Amino acid sequence: MGDMEDLCVTDCTRCPALVDSRSRIVNGGGPEDADLLFVGEGPGANEDEQGEPFVGRSGTVLDDGLRTVGLDRSDVRITNCVRCRPPENRDPKTDELANCRGYLEREIELLDPDVIVTLGKVPSEHLLGRSVAVTKEAGTLEEVRIEDAPRRLLICVHPAATLYDRSQEETFENALQRAAELAGVADGESGQTRLDGF
Ligand code: URA
Repeated sequence: MGDMEDLCVTDCTRCPALVDSRSRIVNGGGPEDADLLFVGEGPGANEDEQGEPFVGRSGTVLDDGLRTVGLDRSDVRITNCVRCRPPENRDPKTDELANCRGYLEREIELLDPDVIVTLGKVPSEHLLGRSVAVTKEAGTLEEVRIEDAPRRLLICVHPAATLYDRSQEETFENALQRAAELAGVADGESGQTRLDGF
């Protein structure tokens, strides 16, 4: 197991367009031994400004959803497929995803989470290596090999989807509930912590 310092990228110039648009590299945040790893697409304006993933409106939705299922943001680790803000918040391009892939793989390997939760289409497709109908497949658990290790991956809609379409709120919360149950970390219905093996 490597040193957790390895989780932080401090210097990378692989993507010229992102080097131009970023003001900093936004690394993952949260405990280095978290059971749940949430993976978003890439930093937006707020994240680029503050240097932390999911601190804007999407972050508020994620925090609220976590609380609803009995989790706190400080219980989970949150990262992104790319660590630099794409210009005009466009989706990361294939080569940019590939350039940043090794950093994400290293984070997954060192964290060794019980479940990886992909927030939206970009991270779901990136890690599953297939096209994903996110709304339809949200809440589905997949097994996927990442760097030769089997990983459990739960598909989830992006928190921002609930802002554009209120009907996705339930889809989002149901997926978070499933994630919490799978990791055995909380029971949203009762608000009680579940003790593994009891
Ligand atoms: N959306 C993402 O996908 N990631 C962030 O960090 C913020 C918003």
